[in-house]
Amino acid sequence: MYFPKYRLRRLRRTENLRRLVRETRLVVDDLIYPLFVVPGRSVRTPVPSMPGVFQLSVDELAKEAVETKALGIPAVLLFGIPEAKDDVGSGAYHPDGIVQRAVREVKEKVRDLLVITDVCLCEYTSHGHCGLLKGGEVDNDATLELLARTALSQAQAGADVTAPSDMMDGRVAAIRETLDRNGFSHLPIMAYAAKYASGFYGPFRDAAQSTPQFGDRRSHQLDPANSDEAMREIRLDIEEGADIVMVKPALAYLDVIARARMEFDLPLAAYSVSGEYAMIKAAAARGWLEEERITMEVLVAIKRAGADMIITYSAKDAARVLNG
Ligand code: PBG
Repeated sequence: MYFPKYRLRRLRRTENLRRLVRETRLVVDDLIYPLFVVPGRSVRTPVPSMPGVFQLSVDELAKEAVETKALGIPAVLLFGIPEAKDDVGSGAYHPDGIVQRAVREVKEKVRDLLVITDVCLCEYTSHGHCGLLKGGEVDNDATLELLARTALSQAQAGADVTAPSDMMDGRVAAIRETLDRNGFSHLPIMAYAAKYASGFYGPFRDAAQSTPQFGDRRSHQLDPANSDEAMREIRLDIEEGADIVMVKPALAYLDVIARARMEFDLPLAAYSVSGEYAMIKAAAARGWLEEERITMEVLVAIKRAGADMIITYSAKDAARVLNG
């Protein structure tokens, strides 16, 4: 096993050798593309901190979905920015809310594209918090019913998978119960199980206009220092009925992804979040990093760590590379 008999460089000499011994393969099947829908028609507003990402009106979103499908990407993840916000986030669960309209349009215009919908109240509340407020704090149990209503109304609009990102305790069980009672026992839940209180969400909050008006999300999202607790979150979500569990963000939490892969056998998603995307774009714009190379390297790293699927704003760029 030792030099000079063994030389590990032998198998790295040519690209064909490297192809044969490559351990991790990123494929288009792994990708999920997030999209932001806003009110109006023919709206395509660039998000300044996320070059290449737009806030899209329903008609424009449908076009984007067609393109996503044409690239072979299996799924989109929808986020909505409503006409109006209020303190109970009613735009989230309105039968004719922005995401509900977007889902109906995509389902009508694009065949065989999986539509996943994000379930959270933060884009819909005037205060920007993920649930109902009581005495300046997010009221966990009162919020559950609204999250379940949101998931149900998105399912009724035609969503294929529901993805709660709020981090309230008990929300997977509440959503599962409501879906089952209303004829949606077949609908999978992709739970943002280990979601950290991360500075990497900064650009997303511009895109989704969901920055809390006061305080932060540390009372419900995980402390970046913890990984035992992340395993407890994942375990609980599985017990409550999650079909797919997620670690988020991805790049700064590869150890959490790897650990979740070892400890659980459910399909595992990783969310490469807005700040991860923005860092690459910003450095590339200055000529400091090679954009395509770094983008693909990061995605393969997330897969190597153990993710089965990756939510990424680079999905279309990566698909173009992977499709050759
Ligand atoms: C909450 C939600 C957030 C993201 C996805 N769902 C923001 C937050 O928790 O503040 C962040 C995604 C990203 O940064 O790309 N609805």
